[in-house]
Amino acid sequence: MSHSAEPKPMTAHKSGALTGEAAVPGDKSISHRALILGALAVGETTITGLLEGEDVIDTAKAMRAFGATVTRTGEGAWTVHGVGVGGFSEPEGVIDCGNSGTGVRLIMGAMATTPITTTFTGDASLSRRPMARVTDPLALFGSEITAREGGRLPVTIKGTTDPVPVRYKTPVASAQIKSAILFAGLNAPGETVVIEAEATRDHTERMFTGFGADIRTEVTAEGHVITLKGRPELRAQSVAVPRDPSSAAFPVAAALIVPGSEIRVPGVSRNPTRDGLYVTLLEMGADITFENTREEGGEPVADLVVRHGPLKGVSVPADRAASMIDEFPILSVIACFAEGPTVMNGVAELRVKESDRIEAMAVGLRANGAHVEDTEDTMTVHGTGGLKGGAEAVTHLDHRIAMSFLIAGLASEQPVSVDDGSPIMTSFPDFLPLMQRLGATIS
Ligand code: S3P
Repeated sequence: MSHSAEPKPMTAHKSGALTGEAAVPGDKSISHRALILGALAVGETTITGLLEGEDVIDTAKAMRAFGATVTRTGEGAWTVHGVGVGGFSEPEGVIDCGNSGTGVRLIMGAMATTPITTTFTGDASLSRRPMARVTDPLALFGSEITAREGGRLPVTIKGTTDPVPVRYKTPVASAQIKSAILFAGLNAPGETVVIEAEATRDHTERMFTGFGADIRTEVTAEGHVITLKGRPELRAQSVAVPRDPSSAAFPVAAALIVPGSEIRVPGVSRNPTRDGLYVTLLEMGADITFENTREEGGEPVADLVVRHGPLKGVSVPADRAASMIDEFPILSVIACFAEGPTVMNGVAELRVKESDRIEAMAVGLRANGAHVEDTEDTMTVHGTGGLKGGAEAVTHLDHRIAMSFLIAGLASEQPVSVDDGSPIMTSFPDFLPLMQRLGATIS
């Protein structure tokens, strides 16, 4: 477990108008992928804007354990000397991925078609999460896998000497499953194919192309069919990591719900496979403008200008869930400050994130005076234009639950507390000072 074992209670108080610039950290998904691809490429990959949160640092340590040379050269600036596809060496110790589902699942894929044995562990949250969704398809390549009851960590993978390519239809919309298979497919001969019923974030595909792999996506009657030609020579790249739209969601939400606010959030990724929250907020009537739209590091980015204003509840369709899967906790907070119900459909995957996010948000928001209903795969927040507050929420080692309740407290009548803010270090180490600079009162 990487973040401090000491719980860190935090409280957010009703704040005056938030103003200024919120330069949020680099994208977590792209940061993990940049390190892993750098480790699998030949030559020196340079990365700027890397998210230096605990999740990504755990991936950097893992890449060192597999034989890559990973060096921090400045703030967010890293170099990776890769070992080439199939070049991972066997780590001497266990690979501890801390709190990171993305880290562990992608790294499992990256090593499963190399003849080395690796044991993966993680913190209490990660040890509760399902891994069979990734280890089942990885076994099809020929690797041998043992796991704890229910396919949980610790997991040991004996990578195969003789991988065979795989054709796999993902049972749930998950970029982590897709990406684990594609990383494994890099060292399998022939073509590895992943079929997704619904598109999920496509950073792996974009970055594989950037590093020189032959990968293509076709939309057919089966869905999104992604085909990767195995055994490419990946060429080292310069990767400029755009800012994370999932982290941007927290200051954006704060500006939307705290009266009088106006903030600017520069250089945020607007990748359409990550854009669902922003589409939803515009439907709710949010005052957000996208300026200076451009391309950086193979991703579309824009500067966001966000102003407080009235919001109305909306119904979020199930087919949008994948493009905003990490943003439902903060949307459920924003929905309390809108008028009318906001219905979130097709969100069952939230139950297997760092915590059961439907349960964690429903319980915490109800304790703070909201009317929330939930089923296995929906959550409905009956917005009344405000929130009473006054209660402590339990964060269950989940960074996004912690940040969501702290944002809620900035606009609630009474302060809102969280039992433990320490998981915020996994994805947004600068959250507290950044929010304080905008004018938020968080202690
Ligand atoms: C991620 C994919 C998503 C998301 C996670 C990051 C990724 O998980 O929740 O935070 O980088 O591929 P699933 O693909 O399992 O939904």
